[in-house]
Parts: sequence; structure tokens; C-alpha cells
Amino acid sequence: MANKSTSSNIPKYFVLGFFAFGAFMVFNQLTSDTDKTQAVTVKVPDLSSVALEGKTLFEKNCLACHGKNAAGTGQGPPFINPIYRPDHHGDQAFVIAAMQGVRAHHWRFGNMPAQPQVKPDEIQKIVIYVRALQRANGIN
Ligand code: HEC
Repeated sequence: MANKSTSSNIPKYFVLGFFAFGAFMVFNQLTSDTDKTQAVTVKVPDLSSVALEGKTLFEKNCLACHGKNAAGTGQGPPFINPIYRPDHHGDQAFVIAAMQGVRAHHWRFGNMPAQPQVKPDEIQKIVIYVRALQRANGIN
């Protein structure tokens, strides 16, 4: 009856394997430094002091939709995307977006509401920040 003991081990190994896989997934999640809510992975460069000011302004006014490091969220697109390279969406597109909002046309997130609390000189700093991120990620 050697066969019997071999076959009764199969479910045990299956259960062990299942738990090992589960433990691996939890470990993987805990040790991963990428935010699972972001749409793309972004390489963050060293930022100039103006770009750092832009980062603070971006995080206050734009991050909720455009995501940490402009990586996108379920509410808005990433700027680390060729669509937003400077020759397709120039700096003025950011000023207009904040002043007037954006009618959904490239994505399916819906319209972007205007952000009138952000002043034009603040938008310029946000743009400097976004362009620095874009350049570091090959979008230029
Ligand atoms: C409530 C969510 C939300 C917030 C907050 C938000 N955006 Fe947006 N934004 C969007 C969405 C959604 C789109 C994509 C619209 C489309 O093209 O489908 C977008 C698009 C844009 C575009 C592209 C405009 C174009 O011409 O296609 C720019 C530039 C932009 N946002 C800048 C900003 C800046 C700068 C801030 C912060 C000051 C900001 N957004 C805050 C949701 C948001």
C-alpha cells in the first residue's frame, strides 16, 4: 500500500504550496516601493529648487488626479506619456487646463474641472516640475 501514502501527500503539498505562494505575494507587496494605484512607473530625477516648488504645488493641486510623480490615477492621466510631450501639449496647455478645465478628449476619466486657486506663476513652476519628470523618463 505504498501508493496510498504517496497520494495522500498530494493535498498536503498543494496546501503548503498555496500558503507559500500567498506568503510570497504578501512579501512582494510589502517590499515593493511602487505605488500600485499609479498608472505608470516613474523615474524621479534630482530636482532644481524651482522644480521642487512646482512639486509641492503639484502635490497640493494636481496629485489627486494626476498621481504621485505625475504617474496617473483612476481619476486622471499620467503626464509621463508621449501625449504630453512639450511639442504636443506646450506649457500653455497647462495654464489653460488650470484656468478653464479640460473637456475629456484623450482619455475616459471625464472632464478636468478648472483649478482657479492655482495662480499663473504657480502653474509655470508645476510645468517646470512636470517637464523635469518627463525628461528623466524619455518624454521630450
Ligand atoms: C479632479 C481631477 C483633476 C485634477 C485635480 C487635475 N486634473 Fe488635469 N486632467 C484631468 C483629467 C481627467 C484630464 C484628461 C482629460 C482628457 O484629455 O481626457 C486632465 C488633463 C490635463 C491636461 C491636458 C490638457 C489638454 O490640453 O489635453 C493638463 C495640462 C492638466 N490636466 C493639468 C493639470 C494641472 C496642472 C493640475 C493641477 C493644477 C490638474 N491638471 C489637476 C483631471 C484632473
